[in-house]
Amino acid sequence: NKLAVFASGTGSNYDAIIEATKNGTLEAEVALLVCDKPNAKVIEKAKQNGTPAFVFDPKQYRNKQMFEAKIVEVLQEEKIDWIILAGYMRLIGDTLLHPFDGKIINIHPSLLPAFPGLDAIGQAFDAGVKVSGVTVHYVDSGMDTGKIIAQQAVDVEDGMTREELQKAIQQVEHQLYPATIQKLITRGE
Ligand code: GRF
Repeated sequence: NKLAVFASGTGSNYDAIIEATKNGTLEAEVALLVCDKPNAKVIEKAKQNGTPAFVFDPKQYRNKQMFEAKIVEVLQEEKIDWIILAGYMRLIGDTLLHPFDGKIINIHPSLLPAFPGLDAIGQAFDAGVKVSGVTVHYVDSGMDTGKIIAQQAVDVEDGMTREELQKAIQQVEHQLYPATIQKLITRGE
């Protein structure tokens, strides 16, 4: 089971997935990091872990189709089975979606379909909801619209700050994502 993690931010979910592969709770190999931000923190982490990385700057390509075609080439070279989106802040186009249909999953920091898109934690906080949470879902061409695989609720306690809510949600993400990937893999879907 070879995973490609797509991440462009701090990479805390990348860390959690790596940790789970090391302690054996996730029976898979993170065989590739794909990153569209040449300065992202996650690249340094990949170096330290010895994860091969494909880092690219979208501006160097004519359009999305061109860089997605390149990504597909790298994924096929590495014989990647699953694409794990973890803070890759782009919609996936047909060029990438088609060859990996049903094999791309994403994690989103709200209980979808509530609060799709950017800053879901801030959106939930501003709306004053008492319960938010985390969703793992299949990726389709829409924004956080694919079929839901797993969800876990997080209570928004009275007096909680935005930062505290973010921490609580991240903690749940770091458990739920590796556990959900393991379930998918053992189901052999
Ligand atoms: C996570 O909150 C995830 O839900 C969202 O992007 C964030 C990535 O954070 N899709 P990190 O880079 O894994 O810390």
